[in-house]
Amino acid sequence: MSIKRKDALRVAVLASGRGSNLQAVIDAIETGTVQAKIVAVISNKKDAPALERAHRHGLSSLFVDPKPYAGRPDSREAYDRELLDVLRRHDVELVLLAGYMKIVTKVLVEAFANRMMNIHPSLLPSFPGLDVQKKAIEWGCKLAGCTVHFVTEGVDEGPIILQAAVPILDDDTSDTLAARILEQEHKIYPRAIQLFAEGRLRVVGRRVVIEGGKPLGETIINSS
Ligand code: GRF
Repeated sequence: MSIKRKDALRVAVLASGRGSNLQAVIDAIETGTVQAKIVAVISNKKDAPALERAHRHGLSSLFVDPKPYAGRPDSREAYDRELLDVLRRHDVELVLLAGYMKIVTKVLVEAFANRMMNIHPSLLPSFPGLDVQKKAIEWGCKLAGCTVHFVTEGVDEGPIILQAAVPILDDDTSDTLAARILEQEHKIYPRAIQLFAEGRLRVVGRRVVIEGGKPLGETIINSS
């Protein structure tokens, strides 16, 4: 059963880079396709373009410096505890990782169990980690794509919410393939957020059941 919410879902976005997925979410909220409110955009990089985008849209943007924690044996957990404070202060209900280049620890994963999502540019469980478009080409895959999943302690391992597939063309480079995948990322991330906002995502074991049926995926754009 989907839940009718009184107030918009309170979302925080963690981003380290250019922030095109953040932009897609901002756009989807501004056009009303996603019923949510971005209450904080947080980065571990002071000059992340994502922060600039947030600022342009009047969103609260925040650089949380990892440096004070460097060298400590628990540096990642200590950093995440600071993030957790910020997220709690903003009454965040859903955390979105969008090109966030730090591995999140148990501290955040447990506090936001099944309430933290990531977008990854491969068809998981194939190709977790980095440089995945290059790897998909090198492996001779015929299809690539992207995955939105809930975040667990294992990197790129959590329950899969939505995926979209694209073809790999003979003359693809990592850049051309990444661009084709990115277009799909910008569609499925907002969709996954809206499904969450509607209370339609239920985690059963390592699967995500979408109540009321799956939305139509983009899947496999015909290349001819
Ligand atoms: C995207 O490809 C996303 O799948 C991956 O990092 C990239 C971030 O891009 N996790 P952007 O910063 O959202 O433009």
